Order: sequence, then structure tokens, then C-alpha cells
Amino acid sequence: MPAVGVRRSLSPRSHAERAEVLAAPGFGRVMTDHMVIAEWTHEHGWAPAEVVPYAPVQIDPANMALHYGQSIFEGLKAYQWADGSIRAFRPDRNAARFARSATRMAMPVLPEETFLASLHALVGVDRAWVPTAPETSLYLRPLMFATENGLGVRPANRYLFLLLASPAGPYFARGLNPVTVWVSDDYVRAAPGGTGEAKCAGNYAASLVAQAEAMAHGCDQVVWLDAAEHAWIEEMGGMNLFFVYGSGADAHLVTPSLTGALLPGVTRDSLLRLAPDLGIPAREDRISLADWRSGVQSGDISEVFACGTAAVITPVGTARTRTDTWVMGEGGTGPVTARLREALVSIQTGRAADPYGWTVLLAEPAA
Ligand SMILES: Cc1ncc(COP(=O)(O)O)c(C=O)c1O
Repeated sequence: MPAVGVRRSLSPRSHAERAEVLAAPGFGRVMTDHMVIAEWTHEHGWAPAEVVPYAPVQIDPANMALHYGQSIFEGLKAYQWADGSIRAFRPDRNAARFARSATRMAMPVLPEETFLASLHALVGVDRAWVPTAPETSLYLRPLMFATENGLGVRPANRYLFLLLASPAGPYFARGLNPVTVWVSDDYVRAAPGGTGEAKCAGNYAASLVAQAEAMAHGCDQVVWLDAAEHAWIEEMGGMNLFFVYGSGADAHLVTPSLTGALLPGVTRDSLLRLAPDLGIPAREDRISLADWRSGVQSGDISEVFACGTAAVITPVGTARTRTDTWVMGEGGTGPVTARLREALVSIQTGRAADPYGWTVLLAEPAA
């Protein structure tokens, strides 16, 4: 693994200041004392990554990322286990997706070893920032953006890779609450050949107006349909979707196929592997909005849930369009959803064995 140098902060926050944050971390509000930084230039390629004190970076007004949007990111979590060690969940998958996002956006690929070495180095230095209460974690945010200045439209010849860390509390303050979703008809998130499967900043900017529309209709999240026919379910806000057909011993899962317009979620991939091992067959397929509505009405679809790093698994209780509203089962958290969530969280947090080798040690227990 490449060496990552460390330049420690001379003014880290006090124990008391940190304790106050860790008592109620929220999400993405407070960054730790350090970050990782590495620069890529066309002439020299990647400079060695370094842990440095967390600080603003200076942006020139002609910065090309501001104008033309070469900016990508990732999101993953590290958990403190009962033995005091700190482990990440499948960080290699985030490293690989970061590389694919970079390629799609004509940006340089950060070697996956550098991505992983950066996680180790930052968590090693800022390990005291990992919260320990149930359902808490250290959220890790790698990002890369263009830093060349100029107004010509072309790939920049200079980029910064940064890795930030931020303590995260339980995603839902009141526990596992089903969400109400708004099926967007006016807007699409991604089109064939577009950037839907890349984790680029612009995808999220383009989603905000639809999210506002969802909220105006009393919904928590947007569900996206395909761009060509407005008929096929793609994904939800920042999460992938699963449909539970049947119930009890007959339950099986279907998740929309990866068409190039969806983000290939790490959680989605993990559930496709884990569910069959729990006796719940799972497959990828096309699911239409009409199938969803009629499946719920006939009782064939018993539960629907969303999955992603932030909230792991979230039940979808109610779906709404301009003309229609339908409720999944009783509108609560179904038994398959609850079981899968418990199984996955148990692996992530070390409460259950990890037969898949998904959890990766970032820092040994503190001495
Ligand atoms: C648009 C979108 N879909 C799905 C996901 C879920 O992906 P993951 O399970 O890798 O967090 C995310 C979150 O990264 C997302 O932003």
C-alpha cells in the first residue's frame, strides 16, 4: 500500500469539544481535524497523498470545476467494533466506483491502492472521532475536482483528490421510519449514455428541484423513472430500490437492473449476495411503475425498501404520483426488510460473522 505522509494539526479540537460533537453528531455537519490531499497534474501525474490539518482550499474564480462540473465523490462508513478496532464496509467497491466515475468524467483515475491507503491513514490519525453509540459511524467522503483555471471547455490538466471524515449519528432520529416517495414525472435523473452510473456532483444538483417537488407533495424522497418511456423504475434519491414479492418462506426480491442510468450501489450489490444466503432469492429485472402499483394492489408485492450507505435499508411505506397513492402492506416496516437490515448491519458492525470478507480493518484497537 502506498505510504501516506502525516502533517498533524497544531490546533486540534479539545477532548471536550470533540465529545460534544460525538454526543449528537447529526450528518455531515462537523469534519474531523484532518483530511487527505493529493494533487494530479498532467505533467507529473499523482503526487503522494498526505494527511494534513483540515483547512479550506483556495479556489480561483476561473476554476474549471465551478464552470464545467468535473467533480466526483464517494461515500462510505467506518464503524468501531466491540474490540475497539475500526473497520470499513467494502471500501474496495467505493475505490473501484470512484475510478469508474473519474473515467466517465474524463478525469484521472486515482489508483485504488491510494484510495484505500488514504482511508487507513486518515482514520488512523482521527480515530478518536469515530463515534461508538449504536447506529453511529465515521462517514468518509472522498472527492476529486478540477483545479485548473480557465474558461476553455475541455478536461482540466490539474485536479485535487481530498478525503474528508465526519462523525455520523443514526440516520433516522426516530428509528426505522418508512418513507413516503414521490414518483417524478416532470424530471428525469439520467438518460442512456448519460452520467447516471457515475457519482458526479452534477447528478445531485439536477435532482434537487425534483426533491423539492416531492417535499411540496408531502413526500420524503423522489423515485426516478427511465428517461425514454417514463415507465420503468430506476432508483430513489440517494438509494437503490428492492421489491419484496410474496411473503414468509415464499418471499423473493427483485431490484431494477443496472441499465447504465442507475448508480450501482454497494449496498444493493451486498443484498443481492446476502439475501439468497438467508433463504430469500434475489434477482435483477425490469420493474414498471404499473407493475409496482398493481403488484401492491393484488398483494403480490408485500414490501418495498430502499438501500444505500447512509441509512443502510429504509422501508418505503407509501408511493405517490400526481394521480394516485398506494400503500405497501400496512405502510410500516415489513419482516423481510427488518430481517435484511439486521443481517447487514450486524456484519458491518461486527455483531455477526463476515463470511464474505466485506469488512476491512482500518485501525487496530487503540493501545
Ligand atoms: C443516486 C444513488 N443511488 C444509490 C446509492 C446507494 O449506493 P451505496 O449503496 O453504494 O451507498 C447512492 C449512494 O451512494 C446514490 O447517491
